[in-house]
Amino acid sequence: MSHVPDPKHVLHSGYFHQTLRNLQTPNVDISPHNLMFPIFVGSFGHANKAKSMPGVIQYGVSNIESELKPIVDKGLKSILLFGDEKGTYADSPQNPVMLVVPRLRKQFPNLVIACDVCLCPYTSHGHCGIMKNDGVIDNQASINRLAQIAVSYAKPISFNSRAHIVAPSDMMDGRIGAIKKGLIEAGLGNQVAVLSYAAKFASGFYGPFRDITKSAPMFSDRKCYQLPPGSKGLAARAVLRDINEGCDMLMVKPGLAYLDIVKQTKEAHPEYPLFVYQVSGEYAMLYHAAQAGAIDLRGVLEEVLLSMRRAGADCIITYFTPLILDWLQIKS
Ligand code: PBG
Ligand code: ZN
Repeated sequence: MSHVPDPKHVLHSGYFHQTLRNLQTPNVDISPHNLMFPIFVGSFGHANKAKSMPGVIQYGVSNIESELKPIVDKGLKSILLFGDEKGTYADSPQNPVMLVVPRLRKQFPNLVIACDVCLCPYTSHGHCGIMKNDGVIDNQASINRLAQIAVSYAKPISFNSRAHIVAPSDMMDGRIGAIKKGLIEAGLGNQVAVLSYAAKFASGFYGPFRDITKSAPMFSDRKCYQLPPGSKGLAARAVLRDINEGCDMLMVKPGLAYLDIVKQTKEAHPEYPLFVYQVSGEYAMLYHAAQAGAIDLRGVLEEVLLSMRRAGADCIITYFTPLILDWLQIKS
């Protein structure tokens, strides 16, 4: 005897055709403006710096324009710059980030340029803040310095040559307020956006990045300022705090293992653009799994990006950006 299902329980009838399936996934498409490309820039530039992240290179100060040109031509809309240079200051005129921002603005007038702001690439101990002698973070000194750096990235000569966005990744208390105040005092309050790494967790997924930038802390770890991976309430408070201090945009980092936090953040603050950082370890996992023949990179990466959009991400920061832009070109 055949069982006639209750019509309301028949779901297949609504998505047997691709066009109908598309209707079930509203507003989670990926367009170029939903992608931000993280870039390492150093004095010389090296191909394939880290074994764990094949394909991710350090761009050189002298040739960054020609290296980026083909990617911009493919539709690249925004980049996140990391200075990768020991032995300079974050805001010294010789720092790679300081050198390339005005040139990139000139060469690519429509490209949005964000600068990561942190102390870890420049401190001898590799922590994201200034340490007191007893190994405890000096919060006030740290946020003063971070604000100075943020203002330097935003300051150069004219409106056309400065970074559009400063993105503090340090997780010190009060840094958004200090940076906003610094920008306002420098007359830049209405011209530079602050993208806060608001919910940034103490994660093992940063491994390959620390390898590339040689920024692992020399002692101890970052657990006293990055969030405990299991925390939800603390992540909500960190986000709210940064909003109250005046950030323009929010970020959750890492991405895939934290999509509940992405959802929670978007639902609590739908009025703020939300960035999700698919970090180095997430890149490495997908890359190496595909390389080993275990997964199809395109299929799985598209699924991951979709899941980030579905959870509430407006923009995904990903090392795969050039590859995804290639796919967008050949999409029918
Ligand atoms: C530190 C910083 C980190 C990343 C960017 N800036 C994390 C960390 O080392 O604690 C991670 C990015 C990635 O893994 O792709 N300010
Ligand atoms: Zn840092």
